[in-house]
Amino acid sequence: MLMDIHGGIDLAELDRLGLRPDQILDFSANLNPFGPSPTVRLALQRVPLDRYPDRTCRELRRTLARHNVVPEECVLVGNGSAELIWLSAVAYLRPGNHVAILGPTFSEYERASRQMGAEVTIYRATAEQGFCPRFPFERSFTEAVLERQVRVAFLANPNNPTGQALPLHEVFDLADQARHTLFVLDEAYRDCVIDPATRETRPSPPNVLRLRSLTKAHGLAGLRLGYALGAPEVLAVLQGVQPPWSVNALAQAAGLAALGDENHLRESLRQSCEAKADLIEQLRRHRLDPVPAATLFFLLLVGDAARTRSALLRRGILVRDCTSYGLPGHIRIQTRRPEENVRLVSALVEDRACI
Ligand SMILES: Cc1ncc(COP(=O)(O)O)c(C=O)c1O
Repeated sequence: MLMDIHGGIDLAELDRLGLRPDQILDFSANLNPFGPSPTVRLALQRVPLDRYPDRTCRELRRTLARHNVVPEECVLVGNGSAELIWLSAVAYLRPGNHVAILGPTFSEYERASRQMGAEVTIYRATAEQGFCPRFPFERSFTEAVLERQVRVAFLANPNNPTGQALPLHEVFDLADQARHTLFVLDEAYRDCVIDPATRETRPSPPNVLRLRSLTKAHGLAGLRLGYALGAPEVLAVLQGVQPPWSVNALAQAAGLAALGDENHLRESLRQSCEAKADLIEQLRRHRLDPVPAATLFFLLLVGDAARTRSALLRRGILVRDCTSYGLPGHIRIQTRRPEENVRLVSALVEDRACI
C-alpha cells in the first residue's frame, strides 16, 4: 500500500518496536495538546447512528458562516481539510495544467496535483532565509503565476512544517492580478497562531479558496472535519466532485459542539502558547536552536532527523522527521502540556549526549 508520509502514530511501526500507542507521547502531530472540548463527547452520545448524515451539513454550515461572518453559500464542509485539498485538485486540474506550490510544505498539494496529471513547480524557501517567503512575495512564484498561467496555486498560512505566516495582503494583491489562477490558501493552522495580528480582515478575492480545519485547534483529528470559505461558484465546482455523505453525523455534531465552546478553545490555546514559549526557552538553555515560528509547532535542526526520531521513539517520544519535506536535518515538534515537554527536553538532551 503506497501512502504519503505524515506525522502521527504509525501502528505497524509500534508493533515492530513492541510499543503500544498509549506508551507514546506524540509531538509529531500538530494538534491541540489539551484535546477537544468536553462538550464534544456529550454531543457524540446523542447522535443517531442509524440515520444518514445531512449531506449538506446545513446546521454546521450555518454556524460556520456565522463564526466567519460570511453568507451560508460561501461555506463548504469536508472530511478534513485534506478532502478539500483533493477536491480542489480534482475539480480544477487537468493533465498538463501548471500548479505552483510555496514550499517546503504539506505534501498533499503535490500528490493531489500529480494525480490529476498536472505539472508541479515548488518554490522553496530556504533555511538561510528562516523559511520566510521573501519580499516582494517570492518573486519567482509571483512571476510564474503572472506569466505562466498557473491554474492552481497552493499556499499554506501559516505553513507546515515551517510555521511561517504569509503576508496575506500580498497574496490577495497577487490574486487580484491573476484571476486565471485559483489560489488555494490552506489555513488549517489559522486558529493556532500565536499572533492573530497577522490575519487579514479584507474580504478575499473570488479566486481565493480558504481552507480551514477543525482537527487541529479543536482536537478532532480522529473525526475528520474541515471547511472551505470561497465564492459560491467555486464551492459549487468542488461540491460537484465531493462523494455523498463524506462528512459523517458524528463529525457534524462534534463540530457544532466544539464551535459552541469558545472558552475551551481560547483557554487551551492560551495554555499551549505558554507551554510552547517555555519549551523553546528550555531548548535554548540546552543550546538547541529552534527555528522561530508563528505556530504551536516549530522546526529544530538536529543533524540527522531520521536517527533522532528513531532514538526518541525507543524512549516513547514521537517527533516528525522532516526528511520527506526535503529537510533531513530538521525535526518538527508540536508543543504538548508542560510536564510532557519536560520529558521531551530530557530525551533530546540525553540523545545528544549519546551521539
Ligand atoms: C497544512 C495542512 N493542511 C491540511 C492538513 C490536513 O488537515 P485535516 O486534518 O483537516 O485534514 C494538514 C495536516 O497535517 C496540514 O498540515
